[in-house]
Amino acid sequence: MTAGSVLVVGGAGFIGSHTAKALCRGGFLPVVFDNLSHGHDWAVRWGPLVVADILDAAALDQAFRQHRPRAVLNLAAHSQMGFSEVHPLESYRTNVAGTIQLLDAMRRHGCDRLVFSSTCAVYGIPASVPVREDAPTVPVTVYGRSKLWCEQILQDAERTHGIRWISLRYFNAAGADPDGDVGETHDPETHLVPVALEAAAGLRPSVQVFGTDYDTADGTCVRDFVHVTDLAEAHTLALRWLLDGGPSGPFNLGSGTGCSVLDVLRAVERVTGATVPVDVAGRRPGDAPVLLADTTRAERELGWRPARSAIDTQIADGWRWLQACRSHAAPPTPQASRAGATDRGKAGRGKASRGKAGRPGPGHAADAVAIPLPGPPVREQDR
Ligand SMILES: NC(=O)c1ccc[n+]([C@@H]2O[C@H](COP(=O)([O-])OP(=O)(O)OC[C@H]3O[C@@H](n4cnc5c(N)ncnc54)[C@H](O)[C@@H]3O)[C@@H](O)[C@H]2O)c1
Repeated sequence: MTAGSVLVVGGAGFIGSHTAKALCRGGFLPVVFDNLSHGHDWAVRWGPLVVADILDAAALDQAFRQHRPRAVLNLAAHSQMGFSEVHPLESYRTNVAGTIQLLDAMRRHGCDRLVFSSTCAVYGIPASVPVREDAPTVPVTVYGRSKLWCEQILQDAERTHGIRWISLRYFNAAGADPDGDVGETHDPETHLVPVALEAAAGLRPSVQVFGTDYDTADGTCVRDFVHVTDLAEAHTLALRWLLDGGPSGPFNLGSGTGCSVLDVLRAVERVTGATVPVDVAGRRPGDAPVLLADTTRAERELGWRPARSAIDTQIADGWRWLQACRSHAAPPTPQASRAGATDRGKAGRGKASRGKAGRPGPGHAADAVAIPLPGPPVREQDR
Protein backbone atom coordinates (compact mmCIF):
# COMPACT_ATOMS: atom_id res chain seq x y z
CA MET A 1 0.00 0.00 0.00
CA THR A 2 1.63 3.25 -1.15
CA ALA A 3 1.57 6.40 0.96
CA GLY A 4 0.82 8.34 -2.26
CA SER A 5 2.83 10.29 -4.76
CA VAL A 6 4.86 13.36 -3.97
CA LEU A 7 6.40 15.80 -6.45
CA VAL A 8 10.16 16.14 -5.94
CA VAL A 9 11.25 19.24 -7.83
CA GLY A 10 15.02 19.10 -8.31
CA GLY A 11 14.94 15.38 -7.53
CA ALA A 12 17.59 14.48 -10.10
CA GLY A 13 20.26 16.37 -8.17
CA PHE A 14 22.57 15.34 -5.35
CA ILE A 15 20.29 15.71 -2.33
CA GLY A 16 17.10 15.20 -4.36
CA SER A 17 18.11 11.77 -5.64
CA HIS A 18 18.98 10.53 -2.15
CA THR A 19 15.69 12.01 -0.93
CA ALA A 20 13.74 10.16 -3.63
CA LYS A 21 15.26 6.92 -2.39
CA ALA A 22 14.32 7.70 1.22
CA LEU A 23 10.77 8.63 0.17
CA CYS A 24 10.42 5.37 -1.71
CA ARG A 25 11.65 3.46 1.34
CA GLY A 26 9.04 5.39 3.35
CA GLY A 27 6.24 4.15 1.06
CA PHE A 28 5.85 7.26 -1.13
CA LEU A 29 6.09 7.37 -4.91
CA PRO A 30 8.57 10.17 -5.69
CA VAL A 31 7.71 11.86 -8.99
CA VAL A 32 10.83 13.79 -9.96
CA PHE A 33 10.35 17.10 -11.81
CA ASP A 34 13.71 18.42 -12.97
CA ASN A 35 15.10 20.30 -15.97
CA LEU A 36 18.38 18.30 -15.70
CA SER A 37 20.41 21.52 -15.80
CA HIS A 38 22.49 20.19 -12.91
CA GLY A 39 20.86 16.82 -12.30
CA HIS A 40 21.13 13.47 -14.03
CA ASP A 41 18.50 11.14 -15.36
CA TRP A 42 20.49 8.12 -14.14
CA ALA A 43 19.97 9.44 -10.60
CA VAL A 44 16.17 9.08 -10.92
CA ARG A 45 15.60 5.48 -9.91
CA TRP A 46 12.60 5.35 -7.61
CA GLY A 47 9.75 6.85 -9.61
CA PRO A 48 8.85 8.69 -12.81
CA LEU A 49 10.86 11.58 -14.19
CA VAL A 50 9.28 14.69 -15.68
CA VAL A 51 11.92 16.69 -17.53
CA ALA A 52 10.75 20.28 -17.33
CA ASP A 53 11.58 23.65 -15.81
CA ILE A 54 10.10 24.90 -12.55
CA LEU A 55 9.24 28.15 -14.37
CA ASP A 56 7.08 26.27 -16.88
CA ALA A 57 3.52 26.64 -15.54
CA ALA A 58 1.98 24.38 -18.19
CA ALA A 59 4.43 21.57 -17.39
CA LEU A 60 3.71 21.95 -13.68
CA ASP A 61 -0.05 21.82 -14.36
CA GLN A 62 0.42 18.68 -16.43
CA ALA A 63 2.51 17.03 -13.68
CA PHE A 64 -0.10 17.86 -11.02
CA ARG A 65 -2.93 16.60 -13.24
CA GLN A 66 -1.16 13.39 -14.15
CA HIS A 67 0.44 12.43 -10.84
CA ARG A 68 -1.88 14.08 -8.26
CA PRO A 69 0.83 14.55 -5.60
CA ARG A 70 -0.19 14.80 -1.95
CA ALA A 71 2.68 17.16 -1.28
CA VAL A 72 5.65 18.82 -2.92
CA LEU A 73 9.36 19.02 -2.11
CA ASN A 74 11.31 21.85 -3.74
CA LEU A 75 15.05 21.22 -4.01
CA ALA A 76 15.54 23.00 -7.35
CA ALA A 77 17.90 25.95 -7.14
CA HIS A 78 20.97 27.66 -8.40
CA SER A 79 23.02 26.79 -5.35
CA GLN A 80 26.57 27.78 -6.28
CA MET A 81 27.36 30.90 -4.33
CA GLY A 82 30.01 32.09 -6.75
CA PHE A 83 27.62 31.76 -9.70
CA SER A 84 24.86 33.60 -7.84
CA GLU A 85 27.11 36.57 -7.08
CA VAL A 86 27.91 36.95 -10.79
CA HIS A 87 24.42 36.06 -12.09
CA PRO A 88 22.04 37.27 -9.37
CA LEU A 89 19.01 37.67 -11.64
CA GLU A 90 19.33 34.15 -12.98
CA SER A 91 19.63 32.81 -9.45
CA TYR A 92 16.66 34.79 -8.17
CA ARG A 93 14.64 33.66 -11.21
CA THR A 94 15.14 29.96 -10.45
CA ASN A 95 15.19 30.15 -6.69
CA VAL A 96 12.56 32.80 -5.97
CA ALA A 97 10.40 33.09 -9.11
CA GLY A 98 10.56 29.30 -9.48
CA THR A 99 9.25 28.82 -5.95
CA ILE A 100 6.45 31.32 -6.60
CA GLN A 101 5.54 29.49 -9.81
CA LEU A 102 5.43 26.22 -7.88
CA LEU A 103 3.28 27.67 -5.08
CA ASP A 104 0.87 29.01 -7.69
CA ALA A 105 0.59 25.57 -9.30
CA MET A 106 0.04 24.00 -5.87
CA ARG A 107 -2.74 26.49 -5.22
CA ARG A 108 -4.36 25.78 -8.59
CA HIS A 109 -4.35 22.04 -7.90
CA GLY A 110 -5.33 22.11 -4.24
CA CYS A 111 -2.00 20.79 -2.97
CA ASP A 112 -1.19 22.48 0.33
CA ARG A 113 2.02 20.98 1.77
CA LEU A 114 5.57 21.90 0.81
CA VAL A 115 8.99 20.83 2.08
CA PHE A 116 11.49 23.48 0.99
CA SER A 117 15.29 23.18 0.71
CA SER A 118 16.82 26.12 2.53
CA THR A 119 20.32 26.70 3.81
CA CYS A 120 22.42 27.88 6.74
CA ALA A 121 23.39 30.79 4.45
CA VAL A 122 20.17 32.51 5.62
CA TYR A 123 21.99 33.25 8.91
CA GLY A 124 24.85 35.10 7.21
CA ILE A 125 27.65 35.49 9.73
CA PRO A 126 26.02 34.42 13.01
CA ALA A 127 26.91 36.25 16.20
CA SER A 128 27.17 32.97 18.10
CA VAL A 129 27.22 29.24 17.40
CA PRO A 130 25.71 26.70 17.43
CA VAL A 131 22.99 28.61 15.66
CA ARG A 132 19.31 28.03 16.40
CA GLU A 133 16.38 28.56 14.06
CA ASP A 134 15.35 31.72 15.93
CA ALA A 135 18.75 33.39 15.42
CA PRO A 136 18.71 36.59 13.31
CA THR A 137 18.63 35.91 9.57
CA VAL A 138 20.96 38.37 7.87
CA PRO A 139 22.23 36.69 4.70
CA VAL A 140 25.33 38.21 3.13
CA THR A 141 25.08 36.49 -0.26
CA VAL A 142 22.64 36.47 -3.19
CA TYR A 143 22.12 32.77 -2.58
CA GLY A 144 21.32 33.21 1.11
CA ARG A 145 18.96 36.11 0.34
CA SER A 146 17.15 34.09 -2.33
CA LYS A 147 16.43 31.30 0.16
CA LEU A 148 15.37 33.67 2.94
CA TRP A 149 12.97 35.46 0.59
CA CYS A 150 11.44 32.11 -0.30
CA GLU A 151 10.90 31.39 3.39
CA GLN A 152 9.17 34.76 3.76
CA ILE A 153 7.02 34.07 0.69
CA LEU A 154 6.06 30.70 2.23
CA GLN A 155 4.76 32.50 5.31
CA ASP A 156 2.54 34.70 3.12
CA ALA A 157 1.39 31.71 1.05
CA GLU A 158 0.31 29.99 4.26
CA ARG A 159 -1.49 33.07 5.55
CA THR A 160 -3.40 33.67 2.33
CA HIS A 161 -3.66 30.25 0.66
CA GLY A 162 -3.28 27.81 3.57
CA ILE A 163 -0.15 26.18 2.15
CA ARG A 164 1.74 24.64 5.08
CA TRP A 165 5.48 24.29 4.78
CA ILE A 166 8.68 23.08 6.36
CA SER A 167 11.93 24.78 5.49
CA LEU A 168 14.92 22.51 5.97
CA ARG A 169 18.00 24.63 6.53
CA TYR A 170 20.82 22.30 5.53
CA PHE A 171 24.38 22.97 6.59
CA ASN A 172 27.07 21.29 4.41
CA ALA A 173 25.87 18.12 2.72
CA ALA A 174 28.45 15.42 1.91
CA GLY A 175 28.78 11.64 1.51
CA ALA A 176 26.93 9.33 -0.83
CA ASP A 177 24.34 6.59 -0.69
CA PRO A 178 25.89 3.72 1.35
CA ASP A 179 24.52 1.20 -1.20
CA GLY A 180 26.27 3.07 -4.01
CA ASP A 181 23.02 3.80 -5.88
CA VAL A 182 23.62 7.57 -6.17
CA GLY A 183 26.25 10.08 -5.09
CA GLU A 184 27.55 13.60 -5.59
CA THR A 185 28.30 14.46 -9.23
CA HIS A 186 28.26 18.21 -9.73
CA ASP A 187 29.61 19.98 -12.79
CA PRO A 188 31.66 21.85 -11.82
CA GLU A 189 32.28 20.43 -8.36
CA THR A 190 32.90 23.11 -5.74
CA HIS A 191 32.08 21.40 -2.46
CA LEU A 192 35.01 20.73 -0.16
CA VAL A 193 34.62 16.99 0.46
CA PRO A 194 34.30 15.82 -3.18
CA VAL A 195 36.97 18.30 -4.26
CA ALA A 196 39.36 16.91 -1.62
CA LEU A 197 38.50 13.35 -2.66
CA GLU A 198 39.29 14.19 -6.28
CA ALA A 199 42.62 15.65 -5.18
CA ALA A 200 43.32 12.49 -3.16
CA ALA A 201 42.57 10.44 -6.28
CA GLY A 202 45.00 12.54 -8.34
CA LEU A 203 42.16 13.97 -10.45
CA ARG A 204 43.01 17.56 -9.58
CA PRO A 205 46.37 18.97 -8.50
CA SER A 206 45.35 20.50 -5.19
CA VAL A 207 42.61 21.87 -2.95
CA GLN A 208 42.38 25.60 -2.50
CA VAL A 209 41.95 26.69 1.12
CA PHE A 210 40.35 30.11 1.39
CA GLY A 211 41.83 31.84 4.43
CA THR A 212 44.09 30.51 7.15
CA ASP A 213 43.85 33.52 9.46
CA TYR A 214 40.35 33.11 10.91
CA ASP A 215 39.84 33.12 14.66
CA THR A 216 39.53 29.33 14.82
CA ALA A 217 41.81 26.65 16.28
CA ASP A 218 43.80 26.14 13.05
CA GLY A 219 42.92 29.42 11.29
CA THR A 220 40.63 27.84 8.67
CA CYS A 221 36.84 28.07 8.52
CA VAL A 222 34.80 25.62 10.53
CA ARG A 223 31.73 24.02 8.99
CA ASP A 224 29.09 21.48 9.92
CA PHE A 225 29.04 18.52 7.52
CA VAL A 226 25.97 16.32 7.43
CA HIS A 227 25.57 13.04 5.56
CA VAL A 228 23.27 13.27 2.55
CA THR A 229 21.34 10.15 3.62
CA ASP A 230 20.62 11.79 6.97
CA LEU A 231 19.32 14.82 5.08
CA ALA A 232 17.25 12.55 2.85
CA GLU A 233 15.68 10.87 5.86
CA ALA A 234 14.76 14.29 7.29
CA HIS A 235 12.62 14.98 4.20
CA THR A 236 10.49 11.91 4.84
CA LEU A 237 10.09 12.94 8.48
CA ALA A 238 9.22 16.52 7.49
CA LEU A 239 6.68 15.26 4.98
CA ARG A 240 5.02 13.03 7.55
CA TRP A 241 5.04 15.93 10.00
CA LEU A 242 3.07 18.07 7.52
CA LEU A 243 0.73 15.23 6.50
CA ASP A 244 0.02 14.59 10.20
CA GLY A 245 -0.98 18.24 10.65
CA GLY A 246 2.23 19.61 12.18
CA PRO A 247 2.74 23.39 12.02
CA SER A 248 4.98 25.14 9.50
CA GLY A 249 8.47 26.34 10.32
CA PRO A 250 12.20 26.08 9.74
CA PHE A 251 14.42 23.23 10.93
CA ASN A 252 18.22 23.20 11.01
CA LEU A 253 19.86 20.05 9.68
CA GLY A 254 23.51 19.52 10.53
CA SER A 255 25.65 17.08 12.45
CA GLY A 256 26.13 19.56 15.28
CA THR A 257 29.89 18.92 15.05
CA GLY A 258 32.34 21.44 13.66
CA CYS A 259 35.14 20.45 11.30
CA SER A 260 37.69 22.93 10.06
CA VAL A 261 38.79 22.82 6.43
CA LEU A 262 42.09 21.32 7.56
CA ASP A 263 40.23 18.76 9.72
CA VAL A 264 38.40 17.64 6.59
CA LEU A 265 41.58 17.39 4.54
CA ARG A 266 43.26 15.35 7.27
CA ALA A 267 40.21 13.09 7.48
CA VAL A 268 40.33 12.56 3.70
CA GLU A 269 43.99 11.58 3.99
CA ARG A 270 43.19 9.25 6.90
CA VAL A 271 40.32 7.51 5.10
CA THR A 272 41.89 7.29 1.63
CA GLY A 273 45.52 6.80 2.62
CA ALA A 274 46.44 9.38 -0.05
CA THR A 275 47.96 12.84 0.23
CA VAL A 276 45.84 15.92 -0.44
CA PRO A 277 48.01 18.78 -1.78
CA VAL A 278 46.91 22.17 -0.45
CA ASP A 279 46.97 25.53 -2.20
CA VAL A 280 46.50 28.38 0.30
CA ALA A 281 44.43 31.29 -1.04
CA GLY A 282 43.00 34.43 0.55
CA ARG A 283 39.67 34.77 2.31
CA ARG A 284 36.50 34.92 0.25
CA PRO A 285 33.92 37.60 0.92
CA GLY A 286 30.85 36.30 2.73
CA ASP A 287 32.50 33.29 4.39
CA ALA A 288 31.55 33.05 8.07
CA PRO A 289 34.43 31.87 10.28
CA VAL A 290 32.27 29.23 11.97
CA LEU A 291 28.89 27.75 11.02
CA LEU A 292 27.51 25.12 13.32
CA ALA A 293 23.93 23.87 13.65
CA ASP A 294 21.86 23.52 16.76
CA THR A 295 19.61 20.65 15.65
CA THR A 296 17.65 20.28 18.88
CA ARG A 297 14.41 21.24 17.18
CA ALA A 298 14.65 18.66 14.36
CA GLU A 299 15.62 15.98 16.85
CA ARG A 300 12.88 16.81 19.34
CA GLU A 301 10.00 17.53 16.94
CA LEU A 302 10.73 15.44 13.85
CA GLY A 303 12.54 12.64 15.70
CA TRP A 304 15.51 13.11 13.35
CA ARG A 305 19.02 11.83 14.14
CA PRO A 306 22.13 12.53 12.04
CA ALA A 307 23.07 8.87 12.46
CA ARG A 308 25.57 8.60 9.60
CA SER A 309 27.19 12.01 9.92
CA ALA A 310 30.57 11.19 11.52
CA ILE A 311 33.02 12.92 9.16
CA ASP A 312 34.98 9.74 8.40
CA THR A 313 31.75 7.97 7.38
CA GLN A 314 30.77 10.80 5.04
CA ILE A 315 34.23 10.73 3.47
CA ALA A 316 34.34 6.93 3.19
CA ASP A 317 30.95 6.84 1.43
CA GLY A 318 31.98 9.68 -0.91
CA TRP A 319 35.27 7.91 -1.65
CA ARG A 320 33.48 4.68 -2.55
CA TRP A 321 31.22 6.60 -4.93
CA LEU A 322 34.18 8.31 -6.60
CA GLN A 323 36.00 5.00 -7.01
CA ALA A 324 32.88 3.40 -8.47
CA CYS A 325 32.53 6.27 -10.96
CA ARG A 326 36.17 5.99 -11.96
CA SER A 327 36.04 2.26 -12.51
CA HIS A 328 33.19 2.63 -15.02
CA ALA A 329 34.36 4.69 -17.95
CA ALA A 330 31.08 4.42 -19.88
CA PRO A 331 28.24 6.84 -19.14
CA PRO A 332 25.16 5.30 -17.56
CA THR A 333 22.31 4.10 -19.69
CA PRO A 334 18.81 5.49 -19.12
CA GLN A 335 17.06 3.82 -16.24
CA ALA A 336 15.45 0.57 -17.25
CA SER A 337 14.88 -0.05 -13.55
CA ARG A 338 13.01 3.17 -12.82
CA ALA A 339 9.39 2.72 -11.80
CA GLY A 340 6.90 4.47 -14.05
CA ALA A 341 7.15 6.51 -17.20
CA THR A 342 9.45 9.32 -18.19
CA ASP A 343 7.87 12.52 -19.49
CA ARG A 344 10.58 14.28 -21.37
CA GLY A 345 10.66 17.81 -22.64
CA LYS A 346 14.10 16.97 -23.98
CA ALA A 347 16.22 13.89 -24.43
CA GLY A 348 18.02 13.14 -21.20
CA ARG A 349 21.16 11.17 -20.58
CA GLY A 350 23.31 11.28 -17.52
CA LYS A 351 26.17 13.69 -17.81
CA ALA A 352 29.32 11.64 -17.97
CA SER A 353 32.02 14.16 -17.29
CA ARG A 354 32.91 17.29 -15.45
CA GLY A 355 35.20 19.46 -17.41
CA LYS A 356 34.75 23.14 -16.60
CA ALA A 357 36.92 25.08 -14.23
CA GLY A 358 35.11 25.50 -10.93
CA ARG A 359 33.89 28.66 -9.28
CA PRO A 360 34.13 29.26 -5.56
CA GLY A 361 31.09 27.71 -3.91
CA PRO A 362 29.41 27.20 -0.57
CA GLY A 363 32.19 24.94 0.71
CA HIS A 364 35.58 26.35 1.45
CA ALA A 365 37.51 25.10 -1.41
CA ALA A 366 37.28 25.47 -5.13
CA ASP A 367 38.96 23.51 -7.81
CA ALA A 368 42.20 24.90 -9.08
CA VAL A 369 41.75 22.76 -12.20
CA ALA A 370 38.89 20.42 -13.00
CA ILE A 371 39.72 17.18 -14.76
CA PRO A 372 37.04 15.22 -16.64
CA LEU A 373 35.72 12.26 -14.70
CA PRO A 374 33.97 9.25 -16.10
CA GLY A 375 30.31 8.72 -15.27
CA PRO A 376 28.81 6.86 -12.37
CA PRO A 377 28.67 3.08 -12.27
CA VAL A 378 26.44 1.18 -14.67
CA ARG A 379 24.49 -1.40 -12.73
CA GLU A 380 23.51 -4.75 -14.13
CA GLN A 381 19.80 -3.96 -14.01
CA ASP A 382 20.43 -0.76 -15.95
CA ARG A 383 22.03 -2.31 -18.98
N1 LIG B 1 24.55 20.65 -1.26
C1 LIG B 1 24.54 21.37 -0.12
O1 LIG B 1 25.48 21.29 0.69
C2 LIG B 1 23.39 22.30 0.17
C3 LIG B 1 23.44 23.06 1.36
C4 LIG B 1 22.37 23.89 1.66
C5 LIG B 1 21.27 23.95 0.81
N2 LIG B 1 21.24 23.22 -0.34
C6 LIG B 1 20.05 23.32 -1.20
O2 LIG B 1 19.58 22.00 -1.45
C7 LIG B 1 19.00 21.89 -2.74
C8 LIG B 1 19.64 20.73 -3.47
O3 LIG B 1 21.06 20.93 -3.51
P1 LIG B 1 21.98 19.93 -4.34
O4 LIG B 1 23.35 20.03 -3.78
O5 LIG B 1 21.32 18.62 -4.44
O6 LIG B 1 21.97 20.67 -5.75
P2 LIG B 1 21.92 20.02 -7.21
O7 LIG B 1 22.34 21.11 -8.14
O8 LIG B 1 22.65 18.74 -7.24
O9 LIG B 1 20.36 19.73 -7.40
C9 LIG B 1 19.45 20.73 -7.80
C10 LIG B 1 18.53 20.12 -8.85
O10 LIG B 1 17.61 21.11 -9.29
C11 LIG B 1 17.51 21.05 -10.69
N3 LIG B 1 17.11 22.37 -11.19
C12 LIG B 1 17.84 23.51 -11.17
N4 LIG B 1 17.15 24.50 -11.75
C13 LIG B 1 15.96 23.98 -12.13
C14 LIG B 1 14.82 24.53 -12.80
N5 LIG B 1 14.80 25.81 -13.21
N6 LIG B 1 13.77 23.72 -13.05
C15 LIG B 1 13.79 22.41 -12.66
N7 LIG B 1 14.85 21.84 -12.03
C16 LIG B 1 15.92 22.62 -11.79
C17 LIG B 1 18.88 20.65 -11.17
O11 LIG B 1 18.86 20.07 -12.47
C18 LIG B 1 19.29 19.66 -10.09
O12 LIG B 1 18.92 18.34 -10.44
C19 LIG B 1 19.22 23.25 -3.40
O13 LIG B 1 18.02 23.98 -3.27
C20 LIG B 1 20.32 23.88 -2.58
O14 LIG B 1 20.22 25.28 -2.60
C21 LIG B 1 22.27 22.39 -0.68
